[in-house]
Amino acid sequence: MLGRKVPAVTFRTRVRDESVGGSNPFRWQDVTSDDYFAGKRVVLFSLPGAFTPTCSTYQLPDFEKLAPEFRALGINEIYCISVNDAFVMNAWGKSQSLENVKLIPDGSGEFTRKMGMLVAKDNLGFGMRSWRYAAVVNNGVVEQWFEEEGYSDNCDSDPYGISSPQNILAALKSQKLAA
Ligand code: BEZ
Repeated sequence: MLGRKVPAVTFRTRVRDESVGGSNPFRWQDVTSDDYFAGKRVVLFSLPGAFTPTCSTYQLPDFEKLAPEFRALGINEIYCISVNDAFVMNAWGKSQSLENVKLIPDGSGEFTRKMGMLVAKDNLGFGMRSWRYAAVVNNGVVEQWFEEEGYSDNCDSDPYGISSPQNILAALKSQKLAA
């Protein structure tokens, strides 16, 4: 994965636009991989589903809280991606009062599939979802890779640790010390 360019995909997002009017003023906005990744050094983390316990209690809130530390280490953006549609991702972001982490809806799973990270979670009634992983992506190229162990379909467990913000921060700090 190291040194690979992230797949070129168009994400279908929903953005608030008061000109739409009415009580639900949102419209579609296409955002490409280039829009998210070109010219930036970012942390991308991917998880099995919005609103799921580990993701909602630890991974996403911890990235949100630790965002200033990531910025101090030269990270311009933190992106959380999941195989969920834009409506679900927006509702999850609202419920988490996010200010730092940006959510990317990969509703069709195209980005996740092209990253080689799509797994079946039919054992949970989820269908196809993302294996947990994270990456430091520099100008669209994977610079560091953090994949949970045991990549498999219908996995009985949900390993979480390698892709935690604490682990990625530790790697960024030791990289800085070595530089
Ligand atoms: C969790 O984040 O705790 C979780 C993720 C996928 C399935 C079930 C739980």
